[in-house]
Amino acid sequence: MNTLRSYQANFSLAGRCALVTGSSAGLGLEIARAYAAHGAHVVLHGRHTNKLTPLADELKAAGAQVDTWEQDLADLDSLPDSYQALCQRVGTPNILVNNVGVRLRSSLQNAAWDDIEHLLHVDLLATLKLSKYAAQAMLDAQTRQGRIVTLTSIAGPLARPGDAIYPIAKQGLAGMVRALAVEFGGQGITSNGIAPGTFATESNAVLANDPVKGPLVVGRNPLGRWAKPDEIRAAAIFLASPAASYVNGHIVVVDGGFSITF
Ligand SMILES: NC(=O)c1ccc[n+]([C@@H]2O[C@H](COP(=O)([O-])OP(=O)(O)OC[C@H]3O[C@@H](n4cnc5c(N)ncnc54)[C@H](OP(=O)(O)O)[C@@H]3O)[C@@H](O)[C@H]2O)c1
Repeated sequence: MNTLRSYQANFSLAGRCALVTGSSAGLGLEIARAYAAHGAHVVLHGRHTNKLTPLADELKAAGAQVDTWEQDLADLDSLPDSYQALCQRVGTPNILVNNVGVRLRSSLQNAAWDDIEHLLHVDLLATLKLSKYAAQAMLDAQTRQGRIVTLTSIAGPLARPGDAIYPIAKQGLAGMVRALAVEFGGQGITSNGIAPGTFATESNAVLANDPVKGPLVVGRNPLGRWAKPDEIRAAAIFLASPAASYVNGHIVVVDGGFSITF
């Protein structure tokens, strides 16, 4: 019995502080809720106080310790100072989930350059910059068992007509996952990724409701359905938990088998 308890305790996040970027909606919110349920002090993040406050209140009412961080990740210049101020206010997060991701479905020819720059700015550069400062803050705070978990995508390693930009950013993040794993693993911080497949989040509603593309997505998936948003939780808990102490530099694919078919 004691062995079982200590095994289960390996999945507890009690005493940990987790910043989940983009946790006002979608998969980020699912991950934040799961971390709170596993005992973590959670920092919800997004651009809008009016979205974050009621979510924080909801989690607090359920007994969680919660703070919020309002920061537009497109504003790269203010990121270091803003992050430092967050650490001073709530303590240094020892779990960082890089979840924010802007989606653009377009060929290179049809994409406006401003939209391309914005996507790369937010998805790639902001994530890299936040990871750099967050990892340094973990080192300065002498964090052991630091965790960086980055949301990539099954769209990263694949190429599809009409979807040229987003996969470039996501594949860059896959490289970042491995680079951080090598650089920080020996200093007590692991870096891993989660590559979601097709989740029925609000941001996918247009695709899911498309009379042609919606059924194509379902038809190609071995499980024959979209993922429910809460199906991201298990991978996110595992990778942030003590149970994943020897998992470093890898990307867990959560796609129902979509990417192993052709
Ligand atoms: N959904 C899927 O099927 C799927 C598949 C593969 C990969 N992914 C990846 O998983 C992650 C989450 O996807 P999702 O569908 O859950 O996304 P989502 O519903 O669009 O949520 C995006 C979150 O990011 C925040 N955000 C967007 N731009 C921001 C900015 N400039 N600064 C700060 N926060 C910003 C939003 O907050 P505010 O608007 O409140 O500021 C929101 O909380 C993304 O990295 C995505 O690429 C998702």
